[in-house]
Amino acid sequence: MGTIFLTYGSTEGQTAKIADFIADLLRGHGHDVTMTDVKEAADPVLDGYDAVMVGASIHMGKHDKHIVDFVRKNHDVLDRKPSAFFSVSLAAHGDTAEAEGYVEQFEQETGWRPGKVALFGGALLYTHYGFVKRHMMKKIAGDKPGNLGTDVSRDYVYTEWDGVRRFAEHFTADLDSADS
Ligand SMILES: Cc1cc2nc3c(=O)[nH]c(=O)nc-3n(C[C@H](O)[C@H](O)[C@H](O)COP(=O)(O)O)c2cc1C
Repeated sequence: MGTIFLTYGSTEGQTAKIADFIADLLRGHGHDVTMTDVKEAADPVLDGYDAVMVGASIHMGKHDKHIVDFVRKNHDVLDRKPSAFFSVSLAAHGDTAEAEGYVEQFEQETGWRPGKVALFGGALLYTHYGFVKRHMMKKIAGDKPGNLGTDVSRDYVYTEWDGVRRFAEHFTADLDSADS
């Protein structure tokens, strides 16, 4: 049982949903989880936590900039603790090489090598986007590999929740074994 700091950067809410799902699972394993939207976390003190997990979505080929700033500021502490990073994108659904490239770029930019990394498919939330974003995303979805949906009258969610569950379970199993 330990204390875990979980922070995420999300624009349309899918990464926040994944973070929520992970936090519930970790709590179910008896951990004390502090979860925050990175935009609302004013310089959190990570020293007091046993482990840290960070999640960020991709927009225009880049991870959430608030998460990049957070990790840059804290990578010394992150390097000393069990840590994990999950990256949420459409590329993770059908273009793994591109999704891995985003993470490599993130690691170079921030100087942080997370203990565990996961790539999760994100969502196409056409019914929530404004006019311009809806049409831009339809075009991108049509051009990208992965057979992404282009019917703008509905949303598509590509997150594989079993994979999210497995990632969170591996994370907690490692913490439990480090504890015993
Ligand atoms: C404007 C916009 C740009 C995006 N750019 C990319 C991209 O470059 N590569 C990619 O794989 N996914 C891209 N996506 C897909 C997002 O990563 C996906 O929708 C994800 O679920 C967003 O997570 P969030 O809701 O937590 O912000 C983009 C989505 C939007 C709306």
